[in-house]
Amino acid sequence: MKNPLPHEIHKYLVKVILFANALSDKIQKHFKMKWSLQDMSLSHQARQIKPSATLTLNEKARQLRVLGEPVIHLGIGEPKNKAPIGAILGSAGKLNAGDVKYTPTDGIPSLKKAIIRYTEEYYGRLVSPENIIVSTGAKQSLFNVIYSIVDPQDEVILLAPYWVSYPEMVKMAYGIPVIVTPEDGTFYHRMEDIKRSVSSYTKAIILNSPNNPSGAMYPPDFIGEIVDFCETKGIYLIMDDIYHRLVFSGKKWEPGYKYTNKDTENSKIIVINGVSKLYGMTGFRIGWVIAPRKLTEIMVNIQANTTSCPSVVLQAAAEGALTGQQGVVDNLRMTIENNRKVILSEMKAINDVYVFPPDGTFYCLPDFRAYSQDSVELAEFLLEKALVVTVPGVDFGMEGHLRLSYAGSVKDAIEGVERIRWALDPEAPNEIFIGDRKCIRDWM
Ligand SMILES: Cc1ncc(COP(=O)(O)O)c(C=O)c1O
Repeated sequence: MKNPLPHEIHKYLVKVILFANALSDKIQKHFKMKWSLQDMSLSHQARQIKPSATLTLNEKARQLRVLGEPVIHLGIGEPKNKAPIGAILGSAGKLNAGDVKYTPTDGIPSLKKAIIRYTEEYYGRLVSPENIIVSTGAKQSLFNVIYSIVDPQDEVILLAPYWVSYPEMVKMAYGIPVIVTPEDGTFYHRMEDIKRSVSSYTKAIILNSPNNPSGAMYPPDFIGEIVDFCETKGIYLIMDDIYHRLVFSGKKWEPGYKYTNKDTENSKIIVINGVSKLYGMTGFRIGWVIAPRKLTEIMVNIQANTTSCPSVVLQAAAEGALTGQQGVVDNLRMTIENNRKVILSEMKAINDVYVFPPDGTFYCLPDFRAYSQDSVELAEFLLEKALVVTVPGVDFGMEGHLRLSYAGSVKDAIEGVERIRWALDPEAPNEIFIGDRKCIRDWM
């Protein structure tokens, strides 16, 4: 889009917006303490919950885009594909029939049947409808699980880098997140470190493999060990498998169930999955849990008293996706694998930034500590100078890193990384075109 404003006025407006944003952040930080003491009408617990880092940066990017600024968004957590045809037809069928009412709290039987088939195919396990609860996105599934198993002061072990919502959900259930960091320079954890973090209060460990934000997938040996440990100790192992088919380089994802000889009723494994990422159906908001019946019953009670049930239209869409052409997931994986190749090769050009090659997902988490120890400051700097959105690693428990998404276009991945390099690396050329504007680096 051609910018209608004269260049100087436009530049000035951009500066004003960025300054206003920075000022508002500072004021909020400054007064947070005061407000938290004064505003007793808000629950103490609710005030502990952090805002979403991604949404804050999205809003800044949106404001700049409104001004016609050529912002590149490398913070996106969703693929660009169109919804699968099976999903569109499924949901349209419900709408055309005007058949849009409450459903059973735990999901419509035909979708549960599709989930049973899915679980048999990808997990090699036959579960019953009573082991399944369908929810409004995997996010609600996770919340239902955590709320159902965590008592006040119970501990839940999170492996850093972890998905941003895990600690907040644990806190919402009055539990305590206990963070285990990986072996230095890797995104893998040692079983000794995990075992050392377990106490008599430990209720669960959350494992997300492949992982958002690092893209790392744990090796089968580790999965075997952690499953065995949790089954023996009686600790729940919540396996967030939301990216399990977006795996690259011929690597094979393995389900936790493969490593237990316990049946579903007696196993401590709880599986989370959904259609958001694999089918690129983020807006359809359907996820599910596979768990022992007793736990499922509790979750159904919670869901019945919060959202009643997921929308029937969206459940029909999820059923359409699960029972339709599975080539859509393979196509998505191939597109993303190609984007991954491109972004990894582009990142090599930035001096002193190490990128762990992701095994899966559509994220990577490069280490920018050679340039800054403060990932929030770095992300803000890159947005201001290079108009590139990234997500600060500190929100994933990994300071000094930035999460980059390659779920968008190859063009954005190439140009986004080129701009980051220009903004940070003294060896990069001093001039760059951002949109139709020639920019000169004058800060180093
Ligand atoms: C690791 C992980 N788990 C769960 C979710 C939630 O998925 P949904 O969109 O189905 O709620 C996300 C979404 O970003 C995620 O990255």
